[in-house]
Amino acid sequence: MKIKKAVIPVGGLGTRFLPATKAQPKEMLPIVDKPAIQYIVEEAVESGIESIIFITGRNKKSLEDHFDKSFELEQMLEEKQKWNLLKEIQNISSMANIHYIRQKEPKGLGHAVLCAEQFIGNEPFAVLLGDDIMISEKPALKQMIDAYHHTNQSVIGVNAVALENVYKYGIIDPGRKFGQVHSVKDLVEKPTIENTPSNIAVMGRYILNPSIFSYLKAIERGVGNEWQLTDALRLQCQQEKLFALELEGKRYDIGDKAGYLHAMIEVALNHDDLHHKLLPYLERIVEKERIENRRNTRSSSKSII
Ligand code: UTP
Repeated sequence: MKIKKAVIPVGGLGTRFLPATKAQPKEMLPIVDKPAIQYIVEEAVESGIESIIFITGRNKKSLEDHFDKSFELEQMLEEKQKWNLLKEIQNISSMANIHYIRQKEPKGLGHAVLCAEQFIGNEPFAVLLGDDIMISEKPALKQMIDAYHHTNQSVIGVNAVALENVYKYGIIDPGRKFGQVHSVKDLVEKPTIENTPSNIAVMGRYILNPSIFSYLKAIERGVGNEWQLTDALRLQCQQEKLFALELEGKRYDIGDKAGYLHAMIEVALNHDDLHHKLLPYLERIVEKERIENRRNTRSSSKSII
């Protein structure tokens, strides 16, 4: 069955990025010249998605405006004959059919996905987290959709992470591996190093069978006192089969300050007109840091002597 619909939850509060996210959504923070959310919508569209539903919350109006038609701006660009910019702006509002549902309270990712039940109906669908940017040759969601067409069971996107970082993620207990696909025996949300079943972490991409909605209704509040998608996936993998695809590409958590900066630098380095301006600047900074570190190491070893 073709995967035509995607859910993009953007209802979170973005507390890790305060105060920047006090009055604006983290998904609207720019990565060079596009807001983060546009990369995610483009990935969905390039993967064949036709309809997108955003699960929104407070302070998300700018996101809705971004994907809406902007008459005044288009008129102004037309008058000034800025045709390339005009085309780019018009493309944003015609990329896909975009819908919105408001999650009245941020009760967790599981609750946010459940808000999309009526819109999805009884077909498999994609979920892309609004703060996880994937940069890859083949769009990450397309990789997932291709894997789904082999398994016909829910598939979650995963990548190996350093053991000291498992506490930030949902982690799978992997079973057998077929190429890049693991069968999933169980999942744990944000485990400690001591109780983690592996270092294979869930990234923000999912293809879910609609049975997930019944599991989302069956779970209780979990980690962080929130309804966790991971807990519903646990139930799903006990009753049905669940698979995890190791994604090719780089993932950036732009809800985290360091992740955001990494995304910004890497995307800027991939821009032809920025590469030659940014790289020498970064090299100068790194060299300066190296010299200062050397000096500090020397003076601290002298003071020990
Ligand atoms: P996060 O936990 O990363 O987002 O949720 P958050 O809650 O905004 O971030 P912090 O921890 O406070 O900084 C993952 C995704 O799920 C969405 C978020 O918007 C994000 O895209 N989400 C989370 C919802 O849509 N609703 C919720 O109730 C919680």
